[in-house]
Amino acid sequence: MLDVLPQQLPNVIPTHIAIIMDGNGRWAKARGLPRIAGHRQGAEAVRRSVESCRELGVSYLTLFAFSSENWKRPASEVDDLMGLLRLYLRREIAELAKNDVRLKIIGDRSKLSDDICALIQEGESRTKLNAGLTLTIAISYGAQAEIVNAARLIAAAHKRGDLDLDEIDEGMFSRFLYTESMPDPDLLIRTSGEQRLSNFMLWQSAYAELLFMDVYWPDFDKQSLMKAIDTFNARDRRFGATSGP
Ligand code: IPE
Ligand code: IPE
Ligand code: MG
Repeated sequence: MLDVLPQQLPNVIPTHIAIIMDGNGRWAKARGLPRIAGHRQGAEAVRRSVESCRELGVSYLTLFAFSSENWKRPASEVDDLMGLLRLYLRREIAELAKNDVRLKIIGDRSKLSDDICALIQEGESRTKLNAGLTLTIAISYGAQAEIVNAARLIAAAHKRGDLDLDEIDEGMFSRFLYTESMPDPDLLIRTSGEQRLSNFMLWQSAYAELLFMDVYWPDFDKQSLMKAIDTFNARDRRFGATSGP
């Protein structure tokens, strides 16, 4: 008789992981530091996460960096965040291009400064042929505005005579969202312990597994990511059907 050791099944790596990167301010406060220090460390956590996702073979990583509601923060913090974004893009575009990462920015660009828009364009066009990992960063992003924008585009196409009403279904609607043909997130993580979506990917997360982690974003590392993937693997995704026999 064969002595078979119980073997752990290898983890399924989610195709698309989305993260609401929260807790930078509280991370800084706990150390008696200004909020910007938390945001700076948060940018390091972004670099680490991109690297870990590449190593683990994740195909899509979507990060919520700045919401449409975050414009309500004090001007000095908004300036700091935009400064960090500028710095991140300047420093990372070459690295992303080299590492087979495709960069995509989603959100309302009309509120961003011209130089940041130019950097975004440069980053997207320099990495557009990369196929290793699609890194989407949501900036000035709000899911409700994204859905309204899709409805407007669809109405305009109908008015032009390019689209019949009965052609509008879930699949076609989703192609008018900022995420276009990207698959929906399988796993949606929010760090910092808050348990809400704060207007992030409301349409796309219809069947995402939600995971709220008690770690502030600047401390998020490969281990946190692997823990999240373990939890994901322990879930039973039914999509409205029944599970196994
Ligand atoms: C997340 O950290 C970063 C952004 C929303 C831009 P916060 O700045 O929200 O940190 P907390 O929630 O105040 O700790
Ligand atoms: C959500 O975090 C937005 C980002 C992480 C970019 P917030 O800190 O802005 O969310 P609320 O205000 O706690 O809901
Ligand atoms: Mg927050």
